Amino acid sequence: MSAKIIDGKLLSQKLNSHLKISIAQNKGVRAPKLTILQIGNNPASNKYIKNKLNSCKSVGIDAEVLKFDNNIKVNELEKTILSLNKDKNVDGILVQLPLPSHIDEKFINNLIDVTKDADGFNPQTLGNVLLDNTQIYPATPNGIVKLLESENINLVGSNVTIVGRSNIVGKPLATMLINREATVTICNKKTKNLAKVCKRADILISAAGSSKLITRKFVHKNMTVIDVGANFVNGIYCGDVDFEKVSKIVKYITPVPGGVGPMTIACLIENVYKLYKNYYHKNNSK
Ligand code: GUN
Repeated sequence: MSAKIIDGKLLSQKLNSHLKISIAQNKGVRAPKLTILQIGNNPASNKYIKNKLNSCKSVGIDAEVLKFDNNIKVNELEKTILSLNKDKNVDGILVQLPLPSHIDEKFINNLIDVTKDADGFNPQTLGNVLLDNTQIYPATPNGIVKLLESENINLVGSNVTIVGRSNIVGKPLATMLINREATVTICNKKTKNLAKVCKRADILISAAGSSKLITRKFVHKNMTVIDVGANFVNGIYCGDVDFEKVSKIVKYITPVPGGVGPMTIACLIENVYKLYKNYYHKNNSK
């Protein structure tokens, strides 16, 4: 038996076409706008940013990239973010990660005004995610929840295991699933008996950033496997899951590419539109 593939590309295209219609119907004097700050010239970041720009364009969101040298001073970056916070023509601000080692990611995410937090990485946004009291969610966790919901995969009372405890995927995702009454276990690559712990799950989500981490030993035939990995191995883009072998065993699986990646972008640009609606219409309605 082969798993049913959960097609993130298709679902993201559907979400994007709904978004395009909403934007066209609710547009004010100007279109929604996202400003991306890129520090340095990381090849993976170049690729992700290009994808974000293309998606913005396809739905009618204006997007710009402000590029900075790898050795930019923190206070220069700070000044730019504070000025974008005040810019009435910018709805969403995103600082592309990873950052060079001299820049503290937490400090930077804290600078982005909560009303312009396109990524949902600001501590206030994350606090509201914890309290289930926000419209803005970090894009990757939100995309994963939408993928599961698109296949009517039950969350209430289900055992969900997440491998990876990052602030941008593992932790907010655990929170969102807990708020949906799932029973959540968070592991990491160092968890004792990792394969055994994972095998107990109904839904296994790997966001560890380690190719071929999830093998046949980790899965069973009734399992849903969501692969959040975005790894480059010998120039080839792949996830955390040994897809060829695991997909022959489990019930549902997401591919890489074409699974979580396009959903992340769809949810990110949806955030920009939500911020635009909240901000633009509050400040410009006559
Ligand atoms: N780098 C890789 N993924 C992301 C993301 O979702 N947001 C930002 N800002 N940087 C990233």
